[in-house]
Amino acid sequence: MSNSNTLAKVSAKISTLRSIDLGFADPAKAVKFFADVWNLTPVGEAAGVYYLRATGAFHHVLSVRKTAQPALIRMVYDAADAATVNALHAQVVAQGLKTIDPPARLRQPHGDYGFGFKDPEGRNIAVVCGVKDHTEAADKPDRPRKLSHINLNASDNAASLACFRDALGFRVADTTRKFNFLSCNSDHHSTVLGVAGGPTLNHIAFEMPDLDSVMRGAGRMRDDGRGIEWGPGRHGPGNNVFCYFLGPEDMPLEYTSEMQQIDAGYRSRAPEDWKWPPGRLDHWGINKGPSEHIEAAGLKINFTSDGWRLDEWR
Ligand SMILES: [Fe+2]
Repeated sequence: MSNSNTLAKVSAKISTLRSIDLGFADPAKAVKFFADVWNLTPVGEAAGVYYLRATGAFHHVLSVRKTAQPALIRMVYDAADAATVNALHAQVVAQGLKTIDPPARLRQPHGDYGFGFKDPEGRNIAVVCGVKDHTEAADKPDRPRKLSHINLNASDNAASLACFRDALGFRVADTTRKFNFLSCNSDHHSTVLGVAGGPTLNHIAFEMPDLDSVMRGAGRMRDDGRGIEWGPGRHGPGNNVFCYFLGPEDMPLEYTSEMQQIDAGYRSRAPEDWKWPPGRLDHWGINKGPSEHIEAAGLKINFTSDGWRLDEWR
């Protein structure tokens, strides 16, 4: 792929992946897992929605509520300010996408202002600004710092890519045979779009402060009766360390660290640049590749329409 994607006439850009809203058939059990095993910290509950934070400043990185089956409710991206929210909304409209919740004032902890829309494959996306975040934020060993990235399988990769690149202002950092790695700040990627299998959730990755924390997290998952489904290893694009697991109700999860930091000078590479030698799927080559279980789980979770409107945030 050429670098022409970086030259698209996009003026406004989202700044980061802030949080993800999830649904589980047994939300209490899921919250207990995310608090006791995954090492997030509960920060409250309102109207049946539980919020969990990481050690970074974001008010929460996950919300959990009851749905008929495990589901992705919404991805929440930050914009710098209200003017940027409005500009991003205009870019979404210019893409011909349906804005269900136009820009409006929001209640905390969701922000001051924001809008919601469905992307071309029906994924629910909110763009917000002005969330009152925590004033105290510092890395703690063995605890996630923030969301690292969300990996989404697509059924119409070209349409999905156009939305994230041309409406939300992502840069395509790298392209492999299977994925587009999308960057919105110095992190090599915060959203990944698959070329097939969608629209479903491939996995959600949480950034640990270091490799030791990734490995301690893997041990804690073992203690909880869950094996490592893929890893440990070091990815090609992003050069990040990884371990993959199955969380509650087979939610595919990743602990990662050491995500490559990039700037405007980063040279994007194409599928032919990302080829592994036979028998290899990562830089280290010490694992057998993803388990059948996580490959199957990584095609099962859909976006839901339950509770995805922003009414409850106003
Ligand atoms: Fe990942």
